[in-house]
Amino acid sequence: MKNNSVKDLLLNTGTQSQVKVNGWVRTFRANRFIALNDGSCIDSIQCVIDFKNFDDSTLKKINTGTSLEITGSLVESQGSGQKFEIIVSKLEILGECDSDKFPIQPKKHSFEFLRDNAHLRTRTSTFSAIMRLRSSLSFAVHSYFNSNGFYYVHTPIITTSDAEGAGEQFRVTTLDPKNPPLNEKNEVDYSKDFFGKETSLTVSGQLEAETYAMSLGKVYTFGPTFRAENSNTSRHLSEFWMIEPEVAFMDLNGNMDLAEDFLKHLLNHIIKNNIDDLSFLEQRLTNEEKTKPQNLRSDMSLIDKIRFVIDNDFKRITYTEAIEILKNSKPNKKKKFKYLIENWGADLQSEHERYLVEKHFKCPVIIYDYPANIKAFYMKLNEDNKTVKAMDILFPGIGEIVGGSQREENLDILNCKMKDIGVNPEDLWWYTDLRKFGTAKHSGFGLGFERLIMFATGMSNIRDVIPFPRTPQNAEF
Ligand code: 4AD
Ligand code: MG
Repeated sequence: MKNNSVKDLLLNTGTQSQVKVNGWVRTFRANRFIALNDGSCIDSIQCVIDFKNFDDSTLKKINTGTSLEITGSLVESQGSGQKFEIIVSKLEILGECDSDKFPIQPKKHSFEFLRDNAHLRTRTSTFSAIMRLRSSLSFAVHSYFNSNGFYYVHTPIITTSDAEGAGEQFRVTTLDPKNPPLNEKNEVDYSKDFFGKETSLTVSGQLEAETYAMSLGKVYTFGPTFRAENSNTSRHLSEFWMIEPEVAFMDLNGNMDLAEDFLKHLLNHIIKNNIDDLSFLEQRLTNEEKTKPQNLRSDMSLIDKIRFVIDNDFKRITYTEAIEILKNSKPNKKKKFKYLIENWGADLQSEHERYLVEKHFKCPVIIYDYPANIKAFYMKLNEDNKTVKAMDILFPGIGEIVGGSQREENLDILNCKMKDIGVNPEDLWWYTDLRKFGTAKHSGFGLGFERLIMFATGMSNIRDVIPFPRTPQNAEF
């Protein structure tokens, strides 16, 4: 007899005389009712045993966490709460679980505690729901691009360039840290290193993706990226996943249209395919909100917030307009912002982004045409010579979720911009080559995958939406 998943059993339309299912015990009540979960869906299946048919030593081994193989008949449930249940005829203990030592108890655990037990936290309903949504969103990323004529490119993880120019890279080396070879200037001689150059983990696949856009037309990367920024916030990871489409012959407006359509597709996908997990997380969030003071509570439920993003146009404003709004805003006038907005040219902090999205517009906002000197070197210079064709998308509760731009396709301007920030154009000769051989306007963006999952699940800490988070001082598991 083949194994059934709990999901398939619960989706059944009729009863079945013989079914077999494997899973882990969530709860065992009254020596009679086992809630068995196998991770296939949010629900557990109720398995009813007649204790007279099983010896005491077997019953004692049925604890939260025990793995079981159960055979029995699938019948319409007598009790409320589930449509079907299994009347158990055979029960095999696959793996015992010492209930005194098992960290995951059938009660509420703090997220901090569960982070310390990240290898077991997906045995809880909350984390299994989050990780199923993560999987579903990954699938939706690929299906969106696949059905829109994009090719998937695997950009390298080990690189010699710092695409974002922020100097936040993790070095990759095989040199002996205690006794590295030195050059005549007494500096570490990376020509003796594994790759013959100083290499790092990538902060972005963009530069390589651009080379593929300039031949395959429409491409995207979706992979891990690494940033050694020492910021211990609830929105930053040292290792995170980024989706970066890059399209030849597309300008900044096309880029904004693509990003908005893409985000709406992803959110629509989970509304259509993952409503059970979303409803569970919605309830969790509603309960959490109830513990907050009235003025800090959201007036929308999780699914309402998702639908709101799908159904409404994102507000598009220039950086200059954003600065005007912020300058005249209450928190700026009352000096409530940590960083007051005084002049054009100021970098926007997350407090400003959140004000614009959550207080002023109350919807996702795209800010574009930023000052050149606060953005990366590869962004296309506007005719005003002071702003670049950059765009950031800001989401309620999250802040920046997407960063992108039209790329500088003019060789002379690109060379100047590189030199200005101290990048030697010769080090990126292959990147500047694109501007020599059939250059064309092109654009792309990066979506921080975990920030999207935060929005989709209502989780407020980014460490809770990736299986094994890497953050400063933390690389356990
Ligand atoms: O704005 P960023 O730095 O843009 C780039 O890397 C471009 N090369 C993308 C492109 O144009 N192809 O990063 C893009 C997004 C941010 O908007 C944010 O959502 C996410 O990546 N991100 C992070 N997510 C988690 N932890 C971090 N430390 C992040 N840094 C950026
Ligand atoms: Mg950015």
